[in-house]
Amino acid sequence: MGLALPPLPKSHYRCFAAGVALLVPTHFMHTILAKKQLSPNVTRLDLLAPRIAEIKQPGQFVMVRACEGAERIPLTIADSDPIQGTIALVIQAVGKATRELVALEVCDAIRDVSGPLGHPTELISSGRALCIGGGVGTAVVHPIAKALHARGVHVTSVIGGRSKEWVIFEEELRKCGDVIVCTDDGSYGRKGFVTDAAKDVLEAGGIDIVYVVGPVPMMRACANLTRPFNIHTIVSLNPVMIDGTGMCGGCRVAVGGETKFACVDGPEFDGHKVDFDLLADRLQTYREFEQRANACADGKCNIRR
Ligand code: FAD
Ligand code: FES
Ligand code: MG
Repeated sequence: MGLALPPLPKSHYRCFAAGVALLVPTHFMHTILAKKQLSPNVTRLDLLAPRIAEIKQPGQFVMVRACEGAERIPLTIADSDPIQGTIALVIQAVGKATRELVALEVCDAIRDVSGPLGHPTELISSGRALCIGGGVGTAVVHPIAKALHARGVHVTSVIGGRSKEWVIFEEELRKCGDVIVCTDDGSYGRKGFVTDAAKDVLEAGGIDIVYVVGPVPMMRACANLTRPFNIHTIVSLNPVMIDGTGMCGGCRVAVGGETKFACVDGPEFDGHKVDFDLLADRLQTYREFEQRANACADGKCNIRR
C-alpha cells in the first residue's frame, strides 16, 4: 500500500504516481529541483527531503553524501518549504566533496541526506537581535533571522563579502528586518568588515542578543567585539564532522574549558566561551589530505541517478 505525501512539484511525479508513493529507492527522495549560483563559489540547491523539511528547526544541519563512496559532510539547512517538501542547501565549493555536490544538476539526486541534526538555535521571543553573517555563513544565519522575525523580534542583519558579487542572501534577509551590507573593497554597501558595522549597531544600543556565523577569525572577532558590551553572543562552529552523531569525536571543541562535540552538543555555542585557537588548529588537521583530494578530483560525481 502506498503512503500519502504532501503536495509536491510536478517534476516529482515521475517518481510518484498521482501523489501516492510507490516502492521508490531512497536516493530518489533527494532529487534536486532547483540550482542557482549565488556567488562565484557559492551554489544553492533546493532538493526533495519532505520529512526533514517538515521537522527541521533553525540552526540544524544535515550530513550529506553526494554519491556512493563520496565523503560525508555537514551542511546547514538554509531554508525549507514543508509544503513543497524541499530543503535548501547553500554550498561553498572549497574542496572535493563540495565540488562534487555543486557539479550535480537539476533532476540529479543526492545519495544520502541525514538529519535534521544538532540542537536548534536558542531563540529569544521579544526584543532586538543582531545577526552577523560572513560569506556562506550569511545563508546559515538566514533561518535564525527568519525564525526570530516570525516571533516578532526586531532583527538587524550585518552581512559581508569581499566584493559585491560575493554578497549572498541579502534579499531573503531583508524580509526578516534591516540589513547592512559590507564589502571589503567598498564595491557595494558600506566599505569595511562586518565587525565595523556591527560595532556601530551595538553602540547605538538596544541589542539583546547576537548570532554570528562565518569564518573562524570573523566569529572570534565578533565575540571579542560583543564581550565588553556584555551581550550574549551565539556562534555556529564548523569543526570537521564525520558521523554527525557523537560517536567519532572528530568535531571535538572546547567551550568554557569543557570538551563538547559540536554535532550533538552544538553546533551553536556561547561565543565568549569558545576556544577559537583549538578550533582553528583542528580545522587544519587534514589539510594535506584535503589538498591532495582536491588536486586529484575532476569536480564531477560520476554516479548519477
Ligand atoms: P576539503 O578540502 O575537504 O576541506 C576544506 C575545509 O573544510 C577544511 O580545511 C576543513 O576546514 C573543512 N572540512 C573538511 N571536511 C570537513 C567535514 N567533514 N566537516 C566539516 N568541515 C570540513 N559549508 C557550506 O558551504 N555550507 C553550509 O551550509 C555549511 N554548513 C556547515 C554546518 C556545520 C554544522 C559544519 C560543521 C560545517 C558546515 N559547512 C558548511 C562546512 C562544510 O562542511 C565544509 O566546507 C566541507 O565539509 C568541506 O568539504 P570539502 O571536501 O569540499 O573540502
Ligand atoms: Fe563525530 Fe561529532 S561528528 S562526534
Ligand atoms: Mg573533503
